[in-house]
Amino acid sequence: MRKKVIAGNWKMNMLPDAAIRFIDELTPLVKDTQNEVVLCVPYTDLFYALLSAQNTNIKIGAQNMHWEESGAYTGEVSGQMLKTIGVEYVIIGHSERRQYFAETDETVNKKLKAAFKYGLKPIVCVGETLEQREEGKAKEIVTMQIEKDLEGLTEEQVSNTIIAYEPIWAIGTGKTATSEDANEMTKTIREKISNIYGQNIANGVIIQYGGSVKSSNAKELFSMSDIDGGLVGGASLKSDEFAKIVNYN
Ligand code: 13P
Repeated sequence: MRKKVIAGNWKMNMLPDAAIRFIDELTPLVKDTQNEVVLCVPYTDLFYALLSAQNTNIKIGAQNMHWEESGAYTGEVSGQMLKTIGVEYVIIGHSERRQYFAETDETVNKKLKAAFKYGLKPIVCVGETLEQREEGKAKEIVTMQIEKDLEGLTEEQVSNTIIAYEPIWAIGTGKTATSEDANEMTKTIREKISNIYGQNIANGVIIQYGGSVKSSNAKELFSMSDIDGGLVGGASLKSDEFAKIVNYN
């Protein structure tokens, strides 16, 4: 039985005082859940969030990292830096980074390997654009991303990679993929992993859905056979709404 992982992605939102308040409010609301609760916060909130989440079941993640350990990379933050302050998770290859910051499958692959080197748990994002979906290429695009992003990882690393299927047309648009569609895509991803790494590994990999998840659709989505929780953007900015998503079951 795969665990459900419900992760909030705050994107470029929330000042430290709001982050601390959010975690203080969320803590009692999610303390009894069996689901894994993760908040991926801006770099400037990490330290405050880690302190606020101490002695709770809330895990803290970053939204990006560089693949090198240190060096002349102005403005970047390394996996080692994240790990050293106690960060547990890191989002890699979010579509907004692919779209606005020239992230490619190659850099995603490097970052993924670096995340494992420093003991971080990666959440790797894949997903197709509306145009690609309308051209009937969604499965082709997403399986290609999986192949390139995971290239060269060991079986153990693949087992510990969380994949977030986030159709780009569903992000921040209020348009959610139907639960059947989302499940079919997550199944396709699992099949691809099975083809490369075998059925056993594929059966254990956590695959989330992301794109306009909210408390009113979380149960339907997360109850599907191959959807193991979600990566939640806008609806993760309000503690009561996010708590409802975490406690969907
Ligand atoms: P929304 O939930 O706001 O659509 O964002 C999804 C997302 O990009 C999470 O990473």
